[in-house]
Amino acid sequence: MTSPIAPHGGSLINRIVVGTDRDDLLRIALDLPQLKVNAWTLSDLDLIAVGAFSPLTGFLEENDYLSVVENMRLADGTVWSIPITLAVEETIAQSLVIGSQVALVGEDNTTYAILDVNSIYKADQERESLRVFGTHDQEHPGVQKLLSRPATYIGGPIRMLNRPRPEKFDEFYFDPAETRRIFAEKNWRTIVGFQTRNPVHRAHEYIQKSAMEIVDALFLNPLVGETKSDDISADVRMKSYLVLLENYYPQDRAFLGVFPAAMRYAGPREAIFHALVRKNYGCTHFIVGRDHAGVGDYYGTYEAQDIFRNFTAEEIGITPLFFEHSFFCTKCGNMASSKTCPHDKVDHMHLSGTKVRALLRDGQCPPKEFTRPEVARVLIEGMSEQTALTT
Ligand code: ADX
Repeated sequence: MTSPIAPHGGSLINRIVVGTDRDDLLRIALDLPQLKVNAWTLSDLDLIAVGAFSPLTGFLEENDYLSVVENMRLADGTVWSIPITLAVEETIAQSLVIGSQVALVGEDNTTYAILDVNSIYKADQERESLRVFGTHDQEHPGVQKLLSRPATYIGGPIRMLNRPRPEKFDEFYFDPAETRRIFAEKNWRTIVGFQTRNPVHRAHEYIQKSAMEIVDALFLNPLVGETKSDDISADVRMKSYLVLLENYYPQDRAFLGVFPAAMRYAGPREAIFHALVRKNYGCTHFIVGRDHAGVGDYYGTYEAQDIFRNFTAEEIGITPLFFEHSFFCTKCGNMASSKTCPHDKVDHMHLSGTKVRALLRDGQCPPKEFTRPEVARVLIEGMSEQTALTT
């Protein structure tokens, strides 16, 4: 069986060079100017190379960048909501010429890729902040990150010569070609993708399982790239997902694989991006709940759902499944949302992320209606180990 859904733009991009071509390019790279890339850029690079960011074949060139910032589309009209860019110091940019090549080298001195420099441009980062994040408030973690980078970008196609190696949980890294093959082997026709940067609490579980009632399987696809420092580490979260899946999910209908991207905190725009990327991984459906990819009070509760109205179903390709804010209702005695529960707010259990983290840090389990006890125990243990390491 082939995959039931086409990648974004029609074909899965593969920019990984192997064999003698790779040997030749590695030799060529020795004589090219070297550009140091950080972990964030390296993760973008790898995701481009494996086709997770299809149809991108490299870092955005100026015409695509401007079009993405202004219209959430690449210059050819394809929907794309987050600029994937390569920022370089002005002095380095001045030494580069269009038509040349640079070697992209990691902090570990490995040559990861060669980039064809097709475009060198000055970005209006203020404008980018406003358009992409809806604010230029420097308290916003995405804006902060953006403004900390140089404002000169270079763009062009990349060729990947070495892949970054995961430090942990190697067995949960799958490229889009692999997930597509695995889903097909399992005979799943409809797969719902779930993005998260958090442990899976009962509300997450509720919306996942509501979706699972109407599709063949769940692809639990936690983001494990860079997140802000007060988010729970990917390491601890992975352990919590495993214990949850083992105890509460049907083994033959749930599949765990990581999404090694950085978190942008761009709310609505990131919801579109997250959906398109999961399409590339072979998902047919994608969950968008309350304040998807949001942070603080920057976005309205359902803005990340409303933004999908700007595009036709064909343009997005993957089917978004929208969920209302969900909670445990003490009167209903089950998980619910305002769509299914008639009771008053006082009957609904609400705990903020901050409150939950404080409880866990104190070694206390949140109520079982909020977090499964098995999950809470893993989080408590993981957080105390982390604290021990950092103090
Ligand atoms: S995110 O930044 O990765 O989106 P989070 O891990 O909290 O954050 O959310 C994962 C997904 O679950 C998102 O689609 C989000 O909208 C949804 N979600 C989180 N909490 C709730 C909730 N209480 N009710 C409904 N949807 C929720």
